[in-house]
Amino acid sequence: MNIVALVGSNRTESYNLKLAAYMQKRYQERIDIDIVSIKELPFYNQDIENNPPAEVKEFVQKVGAADAVLWVTPEYNYSIPSVLKNAIDWLSRGEKVLVGKPSWIVGASMGTLGTVRAQEHLRDILFSPGVSSPLLPGNEVYVGSVHEKIDDSGTLIHEPTIAFLDSVVDNFVAWYNKQHAK
Ligand SMILES: Cc1cc2nc3c(=O)[nH]c(=O)nc-3n(C[C@H](O)[C@H](O)[C@H](O)COP(=O)(O)O)c2cc1C
Repeated sequence: MNIVALVGSNRTESYNLKLAAYMQKRYQERIDIDIVSIKELPFYNQDIENNPPAEVKEFVQKVGAADAVLWVTPEYNYSIPSVLKNAIDWLSRGEKVLVGKPSWIVGASMGTLGTVRAQEHLRDILFSPGVSSPLLPGNEVYVGSVHEKIDDSGTLIHEPTIAFLDSVVDNFVAWYNKQHAK
């Protein structure tokens, strides 16, 4: 299964980027996670949506070709960062490549709630007509106090979080396969 991971932080030392990279490596035998950068995308602009810049076309094509999307989001002021909203806005127009594409969410923050509010907003956005991405139900991954759970090399060192992530990956793969079983 080819999964595009979209990370909602444009920070070089982003914990969410580290979490995505950790997942990419840990689950590589089962799922193929491609971390696609969204930080260079221009601001969405309806004036140019029918003929967007090449980097937008390439981005939309990559997401459209994936089997699923993994959202990896920080929380900014109780919501998702604008860099992630911007990427979703591009994806929600034209061919609307997210419609019907399965997705799942993980998020990490330094606060104790671990992106609860950001993920609530993201779920609402995923439900909008131009997005309509079916979301893995019942598996909410909130990595709070992330600075205490990821070491300098980017390795997750908190065993309960690792065990929970393992179970969520199991659940995502089973859910995806069930939907695509013929
Ligand atoms: C502009 C801004 C707003 C933030 N708002 C929140 C917030 O609402 N809730 C929260 O838990 N953390 C908040 N934080 C702290 C982030 O959780 C923390 O910076 C985290 O490391 C960001 O993710 P990253 O490491 O992937 O860049 C905020 C940080 C910034 C820069």
